[in-house]
Amino acid sequence: MLSVTRLRCEYLSNPVGIDTLAPRMSWELEDGCSTRRGARQTAYRIVVRRDGAGTAWDSGRVRSSQTAQIACGGKRLSPLGTYFWRVRAWDEKGKASDWSPEARWTMGPAESGLRGLSSFRWIGPRLAESWSEREAQPSPYLRREFSLAGPVRRATLFASALGIYEARINGSRVGDALLCPEWTDYRVKVQYQGYDVSDMVREGKNAIGAVLGPGWYAGHLGAAGTVLGYARGVYGRLLGFTALLLVQPLAGDEVVIVTDASWKCTTDGPIRASDIFGGETYDARREMPGWDAAGYDDSAWGPVSVFQGPRLVAQPNEAIRITQDLAPVSTAEPSPGTFILDLGQNMVGWVRMTLHGRPGDDVRIRHGEMLNPDGTLYRDNLRLDPARPLRGAPQEDHYVCRGTGPEVFEPHFTYHGFRYVEVTGVERAPAPGALVGRVLHSDAPDAGTFECSSPVLNKIMAAIQWTQRGNMHGIPTDCPQRDERLGWAGDIQVFCRTAMFNRDMAAFLSKWLRDMRDAQSPDGRFPDFAPHPYGSHIRYSGNPGWADAAVIIPWLLYTTYGDLRALEEAFEPARRWVDFSARENPDLVWRDRGRLIPFFYGDWLNADTFLGIHDLPRTGGEVPKEIYATAFFAHSAELVARMAAVLGRTREAGVYSALARRIRAAFGKAFVSTHGRIKGGTQAGYALALSFDLLPKPLRRKAAARMAAALKPYGGGLSTGIQSTVRLMRELVRWGYPEEAYRLLNRQEMPSWRYMVEHGGTSIWERWDGWVGGRGFQNPDMNSFNHCAIGSVGEWMWQVIGGITLDEDPPGAAAVTISPIPGAGLTWARAMHRTIRGPVSVEWKTGKGVFSLDVSIPPNMTATIVIPGAAVSEVTESETPLALAPGVRVRGRRSGGCAVEVQPGTYRFEARSRESGLS
Ligand code: BGC
Repeated sequence: MLSVTRLRCEYLSNPVGIDTLAPRMSWELEDGCSTRRGARQTAYRIVVRRDGAGTAWDSGRVRSSQTAQIACGGKRLSPLGTYFWRVRAWDEKGKASDWSPEARWTMGPAESGLRGLSSFRWIGPRLAESWSEREAQPSPYLRREFSLAGPVRRATLFASALGIYEARINGSRVGDALLCPEWTDYRVKVQYQGYDVSDMVREGKNAIGAVLGPGWYAGHLGAAGTVLGYARGVYGRLLGFTALLLVQPLAGDEVVIVTDASWKCTTDGPIRASDIFGGETYDARREMPGWDAAGYDDSAWGPVSVFQGPRLVAQPNEAIRITQDLAPVSTAEPSPGTFILDLGQNMVGWVRMTLHGRPGDDVRIRHGEMLNPDGTLYRDNLRLDPARPLRGAPQEDHYVCRGTGPEVFEPHFTYHGFRYVEVTGVERAPAPGALVGRVLHSDAPDAGTFECSSPVLNKIMAAIQWTQRGNMHGIPTDCPQRDERLGWAGDIQVFCRTAMFNRDMAAFLSKWLRDMRDAQSPDGRFPDFAPHPYGSHIRYSGNPGWADAAVIIPWLLYTTYGDLRALEEAFEPARRWVDFSARENPDLVWRDRGRLIPFFYGDWLNADTFLGIHDLPRTGGEVPKEIYATAFFAHSAELVARMAAVLGRTREAGVYSALARRIRAAFGKAFVSTHGRIKGGTQAGYALALSFDLLPKPLRRKAAARMAAALKPYGGGLSTGIQSTVRLMRELVRWGYPEEAYRLLNRQEMPSWRYMVEHGGTSIWERWDGWVGGRGFQNPDMNSFNHCAIGSVGEWMWQVIGGITLDEDPPGAAAVTISPIPGAGLTWARAMHRTIRGPVSVEWKTGKGVFSLDVSIPPNMTATIVIPGAAVSEVTESETPLALAPGVRVRGRRSGGCAVEVQPGTYRFEARSRESGLS
């Protein structure tokens, strides 16, 4: 029997604070531990009830197989209302499931009105008295007390900050979300967070408080230094906090506590300085025990200023949380009194340290990704050049000891990218257990596990997954260690499919795409990164491959999760970007003109950027910029056309598909010879042209052969930059060169992924040659060891080794193709990917002339399965000849294998043949 599980609302589980008027619901279906063949939902019923009131919406029995993106109907939902909902589903035989357990969501405040967002007031310290460009300021502490006449039935807190906040009620931290309210363009909007605090407030006296840090709002944004001439206080200097606490007592009227002049403030607390990228200084001697509980004497605290703040919106993405702790694997003392602890993994977060010290001992904790040859901490890539004081992220925390007993330090308003921790100011090395690395990132649900018979390839996948976690902090960042940490669009654009295999990225990316659109300039250009604090129509905008993220990613949200709303929101802005490109390039070839884009990245970090590598060509690796840019132009025009078609905008669909056709023609005319040679002859040129389907059919195979041949001058290796690497890997497989692609993945020499993980990489490097034996580090100004872009090969591993590819049409994981291509001597692989309809899993093994493939398809999905290298007659399913196997339809030969179509369920295919398994 079907059961309904994993209920989510707007992609989140039990969210508090939804400002969408018709929230969308989704669930998964299970059918015992192994799915019954053909298990399907044929109808559903959703019942939503308002807390303390009756049914808010009853969908009735709806004949539909839809399990996601179902908008709540019925009457308008009440602001601040909590709604409970449950679902039951009917299977293909008309049998009803049990009702699911209830899930819930809470609506956020309305826009306006008495308790509307526009009535929220902001409070903060009176003056930024000690403001200085050079130094971070002490954290403001804010508090007030209130009394409740009777027991509490429900209490909900909505809060936000200009800066970062930690809210406290009656001595405890509210919730486990970190670095709230995360980064948006604070000039446009600030996110608020909602918390169910029913268990935290009580009858009688209560205290509520908050501590603030500058965060992205007022902290040191290194990249700003070069553009603006100052790096601190980019959005503002004065920190602020806003809150509304709604208490519904068991009896009597609601009580509402808001931020107003009744709050008090001090900056004399223990957080003496904190900076989002720089670090935090905590003086435990200044702790104020009980400040966040009722009865504290705050007579020495001062008044607050009250002001109006920017527009508030609900946070639509998962909170940043601690998801794992890492213990050090070794400790060294490269010089007396300097201890270096190796966490064994390049990670992102901070350190928790338990210590014993004398009052006033200053314990310094510094963070770095690598070690110098002498065993000291490598910090050169943090851009700490005294000659450029506006740059740099010291990643340095200080803890000044109270001097009483074991003390525990953990920073609040900063985060670091590091594998190694350097501790000074302590007498001896931290004992086992006294120091742990706390891993924190946007907690988008895990969506996959991948393993295969090659330990090296498993290491590569692990490095990719760590890199993804390390670069999700409210926005997809380029890196987590130096002073940049921007939402670089080109990086997530190319990494997005990989990211979606590893985690459910729907909520996270929906949020960030809004940041992209917030920064779209009036002429239609999308920014190169978002949020964009530096004037999006002046600098860093409109770069092909970067700006295109706001077209490509919404399309992926639609195809992967069936998210039509993502397309609705994206369409107009996306077409404006394509219109801009067309306007600026009337002959439809995108030229690199300095006027428009002073710094044109192109296929960034290609082989021409290698430093001191003498056995590879020095030039000629980079695809000419016109080719690169025109390829993206064509692709975006095509996607806008497809979006229009999906949205039923027939006229626009015609206009943009004609435009795409004309761009392809212009591309062909300008760059492609009749023999399929693409100007420049670069690997990247072929990869982009093939990947975006820019070539006429008869030339494709020829171009693919040239692409494979273009590896030769590079010793059989890559010359591609970040935008073309995975596209080349994909095209090699598509055009019949899988063994070439496997070789690229597995080759021991630089450039390769294997080179990274065999030379200490536990995360993916920014540059292929970030560190090279004999030469050492690349240019420290741009040499991160935790950058997603090259990790985009993850998608290839999922698809080619794991064998899982979601079909684009129909969208929303309604269909999947399972087509593993064994290679490089692999003998088995196991992959599980949790789609919006539930988990798809694949396990294949090869050996002794037998290839076996176990597949599990969740209810409501169909699959095309290709058993590689086998003829139909050689394949059985659960020991039954294919033609007789229930739920299996033979489709004949495809991609050199035997193709079948199956319904939901678990299947075991076996092929006995000489050919089985290409290895
Ligand atoms: C970032 C990249 C980004 C690039 C733009 C770098 O500094 O770290 O990842 O995409 O600039 O060219």
